[in-house]
This record gives sequence, C-alpha cells and structure tokens, in this order.
Amino acid sequence: MNKIDDKLNEFIAQLDYSVVSDMFAKISSGKKLRSKLIYKIAGDDEKSVRLCAVVELIHLASLLHDDVIDDASLRRGKASINALFGNKNAIMLGDTLYSKGFFELSKFDEKIASLISDAVCKLSLGELMDVELSKAFNSDENAYFRMIYYKTAVLIEAASGAAALLVGADENSHKEYGKNLGIAFQIIDDILDITSDEATLGKPAMSDFKEGKSTLPYILLFKAQNESQKERLKALFAKDLSVDELSWLKEQFNKYKIIEKSVQIAKDYADKALSAVSNAELKEVVNAMINRKF
Ligand code: FPP
Ligand code: MG
Repeated sequence: MNKIDDKLNEFIAQLDYSVVSDMFAKISSGKKLRSKLIYKIAGDDEKSVRLCAVVELIHLASLLHDDVIDDASLRRGKASINALFGNKNAIMLGDTLYSKGFFELSKFDEKIASLISDAVCKLSLGELMDVELSKAFNSDENAYFRMIYYKTAVLIEAASGAAALLVGADENSHKEYGKNLGIAFQIIDDILDITSDEATLGKPAMSDFKEGKSTLPYILLFKAQNESQKERLKALFAKDLSVDELSWLKEQFNKYKIIEKSVQIAKDYADKALSAVSNAELKEVVNAMINRKF
C-alpha cells in the first residue's frame, strides 16, 4: 500500500499547487479496498500500482463530494475536508482529483479506460439514486439493491475487471467477484451503522435513518412489522431520535431478528463472490470484509 501512497503523492505533486497539496494532506487514508483487489489480481507491477492510484483518486473525489452532499463533518475518524475547508473547496478538490484520475486513466488501454469511466458514470447515478431515495421512507428492496450496486459495487466491479484485463486474466469472473463483494460490503456498512459506535466507525453511529437513508435493515424491519409498528417506524424517518425512540428501534430490530437476516443476505452475496474466483487471496478479502467491525 506504501507504493500506492507514493504514486498518489506523485500525482498530486505533478499538479504543482500548494493549496491542493495542503488539502490533500488532510484527507485521512482509508481501507483502500479497491487497491487491495487490483494489487492481488494484477500483482506488484508499475501499471498495477498506477491503476490503483487512479481508482483511489476517483474514489477519494467521490467521498469528498459525498461528504458535501451528506453534510458530514467526520470521515474516517477525522474532520472531513468540507468541515476543514468549506464546501466550495471540498468540491473543487474533488473535481481536481477526479480530473487528474481521468487524465491518468486515459493513458491505459481503451478497454480499461472505458470500463472504469463507465463505472464512474454509474457511481454518479448511484449517488443521485441515493439522494432521490432519501426524500421519503423507502421500503422497495429492489430500488435499494440497484442503488447500492451503482453507488458502491460498480467501481469495485470495474476495478477487479480492469485488474484482470491488465494481466490477461478472465474479466467476467473478476467482475462478478467485485460486484458481489461490493454489494456485500455496502450491506455490512449499513448494518454497522446500526450495530457499531462512533469510536469504532470513525463517524456517528445510527445516522443513516436520521439522514433519510432507509437501508436494508430498515426495509426488512418494515416488512416484518404490523401496521401500527410500520406507522411508528415511518414517523421516525429522517428525525433526530430521542433515547426512548432509539431503544424502541433497537428492540424492534431484536424482536424481528433483523440484523441476523441482514447479515445472512450480505453473506449470500459474499458466497457468490467467493464462488466466482479461485484465488485464495481474493477469498480472504471477502471473509475479512464480512467480519469487519468498521
Ligand atoms: C458514500 O456513500 C458514497 C459513495 C460510495 C459514492 C459517492 C459518489 C458521488 C458523490 C458521485 C461521483 C462523484 C465523483 C467526483 C466521481 P455513503 O454516504 O452511504 O457512505 P459514507 O457513510 O461513507 O458517507
Ligand atoms: Mg456519505
């Protein structure tokens, strides 16, 4: 991962503008899931490291914009760029990272460039879907799965496929792996929002529903509840919850075994990812992701 950080820093240095370098230095580094996959598929090679850095630039840009859209003040346990430098700077830094990523992407083979750029277009549609779905309580499971596929899994799918293309491995099975891993990853993220705490997550817990996000556990809960419980759940949507309301919600999740059911669905996607590839290291990534705590 150090080589990828070095490449990212090299890309940023090429922009030759201290305002960008100073803000970039304040971005806290994340799990680099996409890079880990590329690296495990395409190996330790100059092109592979460069592809990792391109995908990380695009991913970082999307998070900078997402934090503005979500009005988030914490990212990975540290102040977000919008909190530190304001929304305008966060957007412009996102634009800069995104454009540099695309400039570097254009130096790859056309197949790789088109795979990644198509994914980024879908990523943007996914964010739009997420915002659209947040306008009212959503109980449509299919709309949720489509949104998380676009918002989260497409870039993981494309990163895995592009890495396979780099080394002449099978594109489709690696895409299938990345897609299912990505969907499982987002479901786990949505579960952790409910089951974890701020210190572990590096961002406030129980914030999705308050932010208007009816994630899988809320959809499953709604489907399991009786009419009066459904009404009460809908009334809590997009609100700051009192201690009593929070404990009612937790009690409902327990009563209907919603977390267990959600974990099972994430595991089903993880199993699909596992059966798409034979590479033991890639299988390890799936298991670590399912068992992660943040
Ligand atoms: C985080 O989701 C957000 C994403 C995975 C995608 C964001 C995509 C965009 C803003 C559009 C693309 C923009 C560019 C510049 C390429 P979340 O809010 O559910 O997760 P979080 O809790 O980590 O914020
Ligand atoms: Mg967000």
